[in-house]
Amino acid sequence: MPKTTRQTKIPGDPVLPSEITPESVYLSRRAFMHSGMRTGALLGVGAMMPALGWAAPAWLQDQVGAHEPGTPIDEDITPEHHATSYNNFYEFGTDKSDPKRHAQQLTTDPWSVQIDGLVNRPGTYDLEDILAPHALEERIYRLRCVEAWSMVIPWLGFPLADLLARFEPQGSARYVEFTTLYRPAEMPGQRSRFSSIEYPYVEGLRLDEAMHPLTILAVGMYGKVLPNQNGAPLRLVVPWKYGFKSIKSIVRIRFTEQEPQTTWHKSAPQEYGFYANVNPNVDHPRWSQRTERRLPGSLFGSNRIPTRMFNGYADAVADLYRGMDLSRYY
Ligand code: MTE
Repeated sequence: MPKTTRQTKIPGDPVLPSEITPESVYLSRRAFMHSGMRTGALLGVGAMMPALGWAAPAWLQDQVGAHEPGTPIDEDITPEHHATSYNNFYEFGTDKSDPKRHAQQLTTDPWSVQIDGLVNRPGTYDLEDILAPHALEERIYRLRCVEAWSMVIPWLGFPLADLLARFEPQGSARYVEFTTLYRPAEMPGQRSRFSSIEYPYVEGLRLDEAMHPLTILAVGMYGKVLPNQNGAPLRLVVPWKYGFKSIKSIVRIRFTEQEPQTTWHKSAPQEYGFYANVNPNVDHPRWSQRTERRLPGSLFGSNRIPTRMFNGYADAVADLYRGMDLSRYY
C-alpha cells in the first residue's frame, strides 16, 4: 500500500517552466498553447456529466469539470465506450476486456505519490496537493499501441513539466522513473504465477522528454474523471511513443542519473526498447509497424491506416533525437 500521510507540503510557488526547460521547448509550448486554447469545444459536452465508475472525490470531479477545451484534430475521436472497454492494464489481466471487469475493485481514494531521487523537495504527497495548482486542459491525442492498434482520445490533464519543476530536479538528474501501484490484493494480475512481466510496472523518460510540452499527466478523459481501467487516478500520456510508455496509476516519481530499468524492456529487451518512439521504419521482431488498426473497425474492414513517424508529432519532437540512430535506440 502506498503511504497516505502527507510528509511535506508542496511549495505553493512553482518554478516557471522557462527556468528549467530549454528555451526552444518552452517557446514551442507557448505556441502550442496559444494555437490550442479555446479554439473549439469539440468535446466540451462531456464536461458536465457525472463521472462514471469509481467514486472520485468531489474536489477531483470539480477540478475535472473546470477544464480548458481542447484543440480539435482532423481525425475522429474514438467512441468513449471503446477507449474504456478495450484496454491494456496487465495488473488486471492480459485480455483486453479484463481491466474494465477487474479494475472496479481498485481503491483510488486516498492516493498519494512518492517523489524521490535527485530532487531538492522529495516527499510523499496527497493527490490533492499534487493536482492543486494545475489547471486541467483537454488534449486530444492519438494513442498508438506497440501491438499496432490505435485510438484518438481526449485526455484531461496538465503538462508533466509543470509538476516536475515544483520538486526542483537537481542538475545531475537525467531521467525520470515512474512506478505503478503494487497491490496484489486488488490487482489480480499481480497475483498470477504466469505473468510475462514483473511488478510493480515501471516506466521512464529522459528528463527532456519528460519536460516536453506534449507530455502530460492525465486525471480524466472524455470530460470525466479517469476510469480505473484507464489508469486512475493519475497516468502518464506521451503521445509520440508506443502506449506502453504511458504508465497507469502512478504512485512514485523518481529522478535518476541512470536510465531506468523499465518493465517491458526488462521482460524482452530485443522487442521493447527504452525509447519506444512510434516508428514505422523499425519493425517489432514479430510484426510490422508500418500500419495500424484504428479502432473501432467496422463491418467492412479493420480500418488499417499508415503509421506515422513519432505518431504524427514529428514536428514537435524530432529534435529530441537529432543525431541518434533510431533503429538502435528503438
Ligand atoms: N500501465 C500499467 N501499469 N500496466 C499496463 O499493463 N499497459 C500499457 C499502458 N500503461 C499498461 C500501462 C499499454 S501496453 C498501453 S497500449 C496503454 O497503457 C493502454 O492504455 P489504455 O488502456 O488507456 O488505452
